Amino acid sequence: MSSGSHSPATRSLNKYGMAEQASPRRRRTCGQHFKKFWWAYLLAFIAVALVVVLPVIYVGFPKMAQDQVSAATAEIISVKITNPTPTSFHVVQDGFSDSDSSFHPFLDAFNVSTSIAGSAAYGMVTLPGLTSGAHVPVHVEQDVQILDLQAFADYNIKVLTSETFEQRLNGTTTLTLGALPATSVSYDKTVTMNGFNLFPGFNISCLKIDTTAPHGQPNINGTVFVPNPSSIAVEFGNVTYNTYIGDTMVGNTTIENFFLQPGNHSYWFTGYTNTLEVLGLVSKYPGGILPMTIKGNSSVANGQHLTYYEAALAHDIHNLELNLKEAAATKECVQP
Ligand SMILES: *[C@@H]1O[C@H](CO)[C@@H](O)[C@H](O)[C@H]1NC(C)=O
Ligand SMILES: *[C@@H]1O[C@H](CO)[C@@H](O)[C@H](O)[C@H]1NC(C)=O
Ligand SMILES: *[C@@H]1O[C@H](CO)[C@@H](O)[C@H](O)[C@H]1NC(C)=O
Ligand SMILES: *[C@@H]1O[C@H](CO)[C@@H](O)[C@H](O)[C@H]1NC(C)=O
Ligand SMILES: *[C@@H]1O[C@H](CO)[C@@H](O)[C@H](O)[C@H]1NC(C)=O
Ligand SMILES: *[C@@H]1O[C@H](CO)[C@@H](O)[C@H](O)[C@H]1NC(C)=O
Ligand SMILES: *[C@@H]1O[C@H](CO)[C@@H](O)[C@H](O)[C@H]1NC(C)=O
Ligand SMILES: *[C@@H]1O[C@H](CO)[C@@H](O)[C@H](O)[C@H]1NC(C)=O
Repeated sequence: MSSGSHSPATRSLNKYGMAEQASPRRRRTCGQHFKKFWWAYLLAFIAVALVVVLPVIYVGFPKMAQDQVSAATAEIISVKITNPTPTSFHVVQDGFSDSDSSFHPFLDAFNVSTSIAGSAAYGMVTLPGLTSGAHVPVHVEQDVQILDLQAFADYNIKVLTSETFEQRLNGTTTLTLGALPATSVSYDKTVTMNGFNLFPGFNISCLKIDTTAPHGQPNINGTVFVPNPSSIAVEFGNVTYNTYIGDTMVGNTTIENFFLQPGNHSYWFTGYTNTLEVLGLVSKYPGGILPMTIKGNSSVANGQHLTYYEAALAHDIHNLELNLKEAAATKECVQP
């Protein structure tokens, strides 16, 4: 029995000896092999890990970073443009960056082109570095060189004449999140803003005519009501409007150091009017109510014409009524 049971085992050993005996031996060989080539396994493992991880870090992460920057929204709360020169201005701009992501990466400070969406850039501003999150304040305060005078003139025309306009800010910055490699992202935001909409309700709120003033001396003054429905303040310099009765130009009015503020405000003006010419026209308009048109003409700061504002002011045309009796009865206008 025992030999009978042994015999097949022996046969089996003879026949499959290699296989049956190999088990422990191969384990030993395998162990030796691994001991000898562990580094190759490690490298292989690392290689596989990297093939999986690297694309995540170097392809997936930058894409995620870009998606996050693209999904964030920008808001501009107020803009103040001051110190205009023929080639530059100063800007103070406040707004917010909004991201609802649970990641809060850091964006480096970067330069953005500023333009009306779809048009050439008129300038460039530096947005501060910020940690992305919900409602992060963004404050810009700097001098801006005008890159393209025509584009800036077009921008001012758009702001003056439109109820709303599309302000575009675009550039490229670097995003960092924890220990992940810094990645370049493009930033391109278009913000809808209120324009001046031709100052709805613009009117001469008080007018005093001095018929005794010597020729060539200022002989009118008063206040002009300029409602500004935007959150944009602009220092224009000395702004002159030409005044017409019908088609006849009869004089001009100047708002000195015109610093337009958001909201409803009145500004002081002084001017010249050819009273003889006006009186000559009176007979054409029974009732003493004359159709008066005032048309933006010049903007001068420190003796220099600001052509980009003059281009816009040429669109600032208001048809008003000049009530001569009322103007004659006005004792004095109060300076705001
Ligand atoms: C923005 O541009 C100006 C002028 O080209 C340059 O001096 C400045 O370093 C730039 N700033 C950033 C944050 O890139
Ligand atoms: C903004 O976009 C315009 C038009 O695509 C491009 O000409 C300009 O160089 C961009 N500005 C920046 C700072 O990338
Ligand atoms: C500003 O003036 C305009 C025109 O008179 C008027 O419609 C508007 O309600 C005023 N707005 C405020 C905030 O007083
Ligand atoms: C301008 O104000 C006068 C009164 O001062 C008023 O009679 C006139 O209707 C106003 N015009 C406009 C366009 O608001
Ligand atoms: C406005 O004009 C009147 C005369 O019409 C004059 O007495 C007054 O001084 C003027 N005010 C200013 C600030 O020029
Ligand atoms: C306004 O009119 C007066 C008198 O005609 C003239 O001397 C002056 O140059 C004009 N001002 C502007 C800015 O056009
Ligand atoms: C300003 O008015 C003067 C006199 O009418 C005119 O010659 C000049 O072209 C006007 N300038 C602008 C920018 O409208
Ligand atoms: C506006 O004109 C007045 C009087 O000529 C002058 O004193 C003032 O400096 C001018 N303002 C600007 C911004 O040039």
